[in-house]
Amino acid sequence: MGNGTENREQWGSRLGFIMAAAGSAVGLGNIWRFPYVTGMNGGGAFVLCYVAIVFTIGVSVMLAEFVIGRSAGLNAVGSFRKLKGGAWPVVGWMGVIAGFIILSFYGVIAGWTIAYMIKSFTGLMTLAAEGKAGDAFGAFVSNPTQVVLYQVLFMVMTIWIVFKGVGEGIERYCKVMMPALFVILLILIVRSVTLPGAGKGLEFYLTPDFSKLTGASVFAALGQGFFSLSLGMGCMITYGSYLSKKEILPSAAITVTFLDTMVAFLAGFAIFPAVFAFGLEPAAGPGLTFITLPNVFAKMPGGMIFSFLFFLLLFFAALTSSVSLLEVCVAYFKDEMGWTREKASWLLGGIITALGIPSALSLGGHFPKIAGKDFLDVMDFISSNVLLPLGGIFIALFVGWVWLEGAKKEATNEGKAPFAWETAWVWIVRVVAPVAIAWIFVKGLKW
Ligand code: TRP
Repeated sequence: MGNGTENREQWGSRLGFIMAAAGSAVGLGNIWRFPYVTGMNGGGAFVLCYVAIVFTIGVSVMLAEFVIGRSAGLNAVGSFRKLKGGAWPVVGWMGVIAGFIILSFYGVIAGWTIAYMIKSFTGLMTLAAEGKAGDAFGAFVSNPTQVVLYQVLFMVMTIWIVFKGVGEGIERYCKVMMPALFVILLILIVRSVTLPGAGKGLEFYLTPDFSKLTGASVFAALGQGFFSLSLGMGCMITYGSYLSKKEILPSAAITVTFLDTMVAFLAGFAIFPAVFAFGLEPAAGPGLTFITLPNVFAKMPGGMIFSFLFFLLLFFAALTSSVSLLEVCVAYFKDEMGWTREKASWLLGGIITALGIPSALSLGGHFPKIAGKDFLDVMDFISSNVLLPLGGIFIALFVGWVWLEGAKKEATNEGKAPFAWETAWVWIVRVVAPVAIAWIFVKGLKW
């Protein structure tokens, strides 16, 4: 077996690593899903609940992943093999498989964002103004050539960045795309909240309604938090493996969690005030992004530009996340099979693209349904509801019970780095996180 620890690639700087890890976390999940889930689950009350969960369980599991990765200096599978062996590498294996599956459909939806950037200037606004945004979306997703073409284009960009390497590829591009993402988000927020009638949207988004905060909302917050922070599949193990021994891990985990939460929270300010200002109803899921928002932009002066900027924002968010998914797979084949980065990126990227084609076709009804679900939803279900929670439980248990002394040493840089919340962390990874995630897992298994 190869050994990736010698001459292993490293992040060039602390900032570069933070941008890459935040880039992985900030993704499609933050921008359309978080605002919507918040609106439906009691607004401000849900935000408080989400923040509480993410800054206890989320940040702790993220730190557990960083600690495992940096200590071993290997990919998700190799890390478990090196630190403990036995059946533990299976956890890493599940992560690599989850990476294949998630990226296969993530690339499809990300491809739509490229199409919509172009469409912003080529007639989407006119169609939306005529009330045909829904038909246009339907026609687009049921056109196999178009959908697959944009998916392939997006995947080639993902592969290209990963092929360029950790420092020259992932870090370099994330350092440009993440600040750009932030600036675009601020422009969109200013536009949205200054529209006449924006207040109603803010009210819908933020007014705390504790009566809507049910058990199901807590469940939604946990699931959303996990996916949003890129936890449970070894993404943060892999990114942690490229970290220098000097980096202070507990504060890095807090920073990344904070940035991810802030982007999710701010996305709601870009979306709801604008939707309500034009008297539209916030729809669920892809409909909000690809149908409701074009309707909103069509009604704004300069709508083309804002529409383009919005889809560019989604595109940047998606690309910095997709590279992290591919890197999990590439790191595994590189470390464990001795493949070159070049071979691993193009070959695995190609396989994942091919695996995504049924997802791409399923939305227009060009692929048979499996037990009543679209292929894309089946892939999403297996990864988000099965592999990620299982991975999260085992990562927490591994650090909390199996390798605790080693983990504590690594988290504090052999006792030299500050770690004020060490005791809390230990109990969260030992008990709170496994129990809470097991609960999501059981509830989420409903088909
Ligand atoms: N966090 C990203 C989002 O919010 C998606 C993502 C990237 C992810 N890497 C991951 C989710 C690893 C789970 C595991 O869109």
